Amino acid sequence: MSNFLIFVTGGIAAYKIPNLCRLLIKAGHNVKVGMTENATKFITPLTFESLTKNRVYIDDFLTDVEPDSIDHIDLIEWADKIIVAPCTANTISKIANGIGDNLVTSSMLVVKSKPVYIFPSMNTNMYENPFVQENIAKLRKLGYFVFEPDEGELACKTEGKGRLIEPEEIFNIVVEEKLKGVKFLVTLGPTKEGIDPVRFISNYSSGKMGYNIAKYIKDNGGEVFVVAGDVCLDLSPFSYVKIRSAEEMYNEVISRFSEYDILIMTAAVADYRVKNISDKKIKKNDETLLLELVKNKDILYEVSKVKNEKQVVVGFAAETDDLINNAMEKLNRKKLDMIVVNDVSRSDIGFGADENEVTIFLKNGENIRLSKQSKYLIAKHVVDVAYNILREKNE
Ligand code: CTP
Repeated sequence: MSNFLIFVTGGIAAYKIPNLCRLLIKAGHNVKVGMTENATKFITPLTFESLTKNRVYIDDFLTDVEPDSIDHIDLIEWADKIIVAPCTANTISKIANGIGDNLVTSSMLVVKSKPVYIFPSMNTNMYENPFVQENIAKLRKLGYFVFEPDEGELACKTEGKGRLIEPEEIFNIVVEEKLKGVKFLVTLGPTKEGIDPVRFISNYSSGKMGYNIAKYIKDNGGEVFVVAGDVCLDLSPFSYVKIRSAEEMYNEVISRFSEYDILIMTAAVADYRVKNISDKKIKKNDETLLLELVKNKDILYEVSKVKNEKQVVVGFAAETDDLINNAMEKLNRKKLDMIVVNDVSRSDIGFGADENEVTIFLKNGENIRLSKQSKYLIAKHVVDVAYNILREKNE
């Protein structure tokens, strides 16, 4: 069950959206609707209010906003998926250029890492206008899903491209239950290796990449179990277990792995642990302190020994240099189906950031470069590629 936020803008095709609401609600999803003022001239907010049983959002300035809520921020926070349908040329161009002059466009400025599905609907000449096409290309580059309109007779009595695609088709696109029946095991976050009762060795992993992977799987009907290090993330949407050390993560992964189709190891597992963990707090009596470290088991390497031919294993490689060679060496050594490489020497992506830029390497040497985009969209690509490998293996 997902929270769908539908933004309706001022086009004649707005009449198709109640049907989309009906389909989503029937499938068990929650729906809220936001409208531009022009959209309210094509269809009344009351129609949506009655269907969704939720208040319809029009404009911060036009409605009585509760003093403790800011609609365009709260709405985006609430939504799992955002749909703009029908989306006029005007709204497309505003979103692509960062203009926020009504509830819909200012809400779109708040979106950071949520999937946005845009369904244009307009006269053919408007659709083919180079500015509009440039803005659509811009949006796609930034990770928005912008869909082609249908061809046919338009409200302006011309034939051509510009009809809003049918609600049933929109439903199939946005609900995406393609991962139904597929079982994913996802690890995320850092491990902590104890030194004494109050200290530990760890790393900067925030767990956000793995969190977005788990979320995308869930949003698309897949089953996911999360093995998480100590992270400040709300894992309640998932089935999960929290661990501390690399050894605990190893035990959780190895004992569960055989039940899953795909393992995605985003966790930053400590390579070494302290040989003798002190059971008392270490005092600062000496000028220097030497900690002897011993190697931890490599979880992915151990998994490769028990993996069957139908399972898919995905590794992540955090590298600061010689990205390609290091990643390919890991892919081969750990017998991975694919490895996602990210450059952690950059502070704008990777550890702790909300965006990432990665390259996916496959066993056959092929690689897929994903430009800088939200971790949710990176997650979409990673999971989709892993799922395709699973399908090929099980054909
Ligand atoms: N990994 C693992 N077990 C470990 C260490 C890492 O399963 N003990 C996994 C990580 O979850 C990741 C992949 O291996 O998916 C690569 O992790 P990375 O730290 O980049 O590589 P290492 O094998 O630890 O090699 P190095 O630290 O020498 O680069």
